[in-house]
Amino acid sequence: MADTLTITDNRTGKSYDVDITDETIKGIDLRQIKVNEDDFGMMTYDPGYTNTASCRSAITYIDGEAGVLQHRGYSIEELCEKSSYLEVAYLLIFGELPTEPQLERWVYDVTHHTFVHEDMKAFYRGFRHDAHPMGILLAGVGAMSTFYPHAKEIGDEEERYMAAIRLIAKMPTLAAFSYRHSLGLPYVYPDNDLDYASNFLGMMRKMTEVKYEADPRLAKALDVLFILHADHEQNCSTAAVRAVGSSQVDPYSAIAAGVAALYGPLHGGANEAVLRMLRRIEKVENIPGFLEGVKNREEKLMGFGHRVYKNYDPRARIIKKHVDEVLEVTGDNPLLEIATELEKQALDDEYFTSRKLYPNVDFYSGLIYEALGIPSEMFTVIFAIPRTSGWMAQWMEMNGDSEQKIARPRQIYTGERDRSYVEMADREGPEKITGPPARRPVKARRGA
Ligand code: SDX
Repeated sequence: MADTLTITDNRTGKSYDVDITDETIKGIDLRQIKVNEDDFGMMTYDPGYTNTASCRSAITYIDGEAGVLQHRGYSIEELCEKSSYLEVAYLLIFGELPTEPQLERWVYDVTHHTFVHEDMKAFYRGFRHDAHPMGILLAGVGAMSTFYPHAKEIGDEEERYMAAIRLIAKMPTLAAFSYRHSLGLPYVYPDNDLDYASNFLGMMRKMTEVKYEADPRLAKALDVLFILHADHEQNCSTAAVRAVGSSQVDPYSAIAAGVAALYGPLHGGANEAVLRMLRRIEKVENIPGFLEGVKNREEKLMGFGHRVYKNYDPRARIIKKHVDEVLEVTGDNPLLEIATELEKQALDDEYFTSRKLYPNVDFYSGLIYEALGIPSEMFTVIFAIPRTSGWMAQWMEMNGDSEQKIARPRQIYTGERDRSYVEMADREGPEKITGPPARRPVKARRGA
């Protein structure tokens, strides 16, 4: 049996044999299917790319039905138990677990690039005090491309390595600076004596104490959360990084596109939306009524559902275990009881199970962040910090893939054709526009 697909076009009775490789066919092989010789030829139509592979990748493997997640072949469960975020970042980028000297050099390089250019502080001062930290981070990452102009030399291995080091090292600093800016507090500089997670907590929370000391249990929980958010194959933000990066722009600008995509409530913004949802539900008795609203499509159950996982997101299971450990240190959170009961009732409800809607990575993560004293506006920023290593690994892989070319999708054109220009006097429509010019009502800002 040949690895081909035979397609018969019933409009013409013609048959075409198309090669099957890796359970896929090449879209371009469909262009031979035509009715008339001068037709453009057949395309596929796949809004949201629900069934379209955009690349070959060896970084992350997900089995959505089985709820399996592996990075370079290592299970997420084992990496959370035995590894560290910086070691996983190395694994994602270089493909193998580092030897001791390799890890030492990697950690040294990241640790000694955590400072950002002092001009970045002046740049940050231009933002309103209540500017959303993701908007600030988005701008900050894009601005990094202007501080490191040689990053445009994307063919230079040393420049690519330095961009990976700088982005992984400086994301926590940029994130913490945006948080301190929102509180009107002085920025806290990185402390090279602290590990990656503790240093981030210190830049967020240090006040007048001479030396910040993180609770090791909280730092460990945050490091595990960083591992869980490091990469997730071709999610929306990674697809954005690859698409923007395909124009051969520098990696800072490509990753700024990833930050922008992650900002959306259907993607990385869901963790912040989950906390708002739990607060709105307010008490366990309100859950049935809330779920009725979801089933009437009045809103979505945030933190539930996934394009790939049609089973429990393995990351949600790991996070839920750590929530209990963190709350033992920081004290109970009534929202946990609501979240747990909400999950139970949803998973007992055919509306959700028939659509294979299970908790995803965002359902419980916000509870840990809140327990760490991180405000909800910072939750997506905390997602962006570790995802930077995944975005960088994917960007590097794309740049090394000879099959890749600039992303430029086609379209199905549904508009008018061949119209002649209409002079103003001949146009139809209202004689005059009544009412005042557009003025959006000034809504309460952030947190609305
Ligand atoms: C992340 O892709 C990744 O890997 C992302 C991520 C990563 O690590 O990068 O895992 C991180 O983004 C996790 C997802 C965080 N988002 C949310 O929690 C927001 C709520 N979830 C949904 O918006 C939704 O589930 C998506 C966006 C996550 C997935 O959407 P899909 O794959 O396009 O699925 P769909 O919208 O076609 O839904 C299928 C059905 C629909 O019902 P019907 O119209 O067929 O009757 O399920 C329904 C949807 O209405 N549905 C939901 C729902 N999610 C889907 N109904 C209620 N609540 C939800 N959350």
